[in-house]
Amino acid sequence: MDKLNLRRELMSSRASLSPEQLRTNASKVRETLLDQPWVQMAGLVACYWSMGTEPETHGLVFALWKHGATVILPVLKEDNDLDWAVYDGPDTLAPGRYGVMEPVDTRRGVDAIRTAALVIVPALAVDRLTGVRLGRGGGSYDRALARVGPNVPTVALLHPGELVEGVPAEPHDQRVRWAITPRELTRLM
Ligand SMILES: Nc1ncnc2c1ncn2[C@@H]1O[C@H](COP(=O)(O)OP(=O)(O)OP(=O)(O)O)[C@@H](O)[C@H]1O
Ligand SMILES: [Mg+2]
Repeated sequence: MDKLNLRRELMSSRASLSPEQLRTNASKVRETLLDQPWVQMAGLVACYWSMGTEPETHGLVFALWKHGATVILPVLKEDNDLDWAVYDGPDTLAPGRYGVMEPVDTRRGVDAIRTAALVIVPALAVDRLTGVRLGRGGGSYDRALARVGPNVPTVALLHPGELVEGVPAEPHDQRVRWAITPRELTRLM
């Protein structure tokens, strides 16, 4: 299946998730991640502020911050590349492009992600064999992930059924090293 049709199919199954399922999925993913020593030890975490039916991250971001990590969140640039700014609690976010909440803090530049010890990204699907990630089509995370060093864990958050085989890959498509669904945390490469 091509990217466009796969995105359509995945978005339509996401649309059928109830608010309760979204909440349950988010709390399972949050608990599993927070149980991992490599998550607990990460001093600087790049994450995202979820919207709509994306795997929800608000509780995860809050918990990481409470735990003492510095959390940076994306600020979408005009060219769809990602700038980054520090999360400093729930009152420090304001709507940016497309209504996504972004930190109001100083922008740290597109290279800020290079300093993260852990990178948590959204995805519509991840290939369980290759780690190839399918996003929503802006190429934002392909650019951001290309800046992440080889030893940094990169984790895609997924709903059940989104870790699949046969995700289409173009040369610019970045892979992730881990995928997590409410059922399983999987090491991919
Ligand atoms: N490193 C890059 N520099 C500039 N453009 C890029 C880069 N990587 C990808 N793109 C462009 O982004 C567009 C969308 O790419 P793609 O379909 O892979 O998006 P995606 O992976 O689903 O989105 P995202 O990365 O935002 O989740 C493509 O036209 C591609 O050429
Ligand atoms: Mg891509």
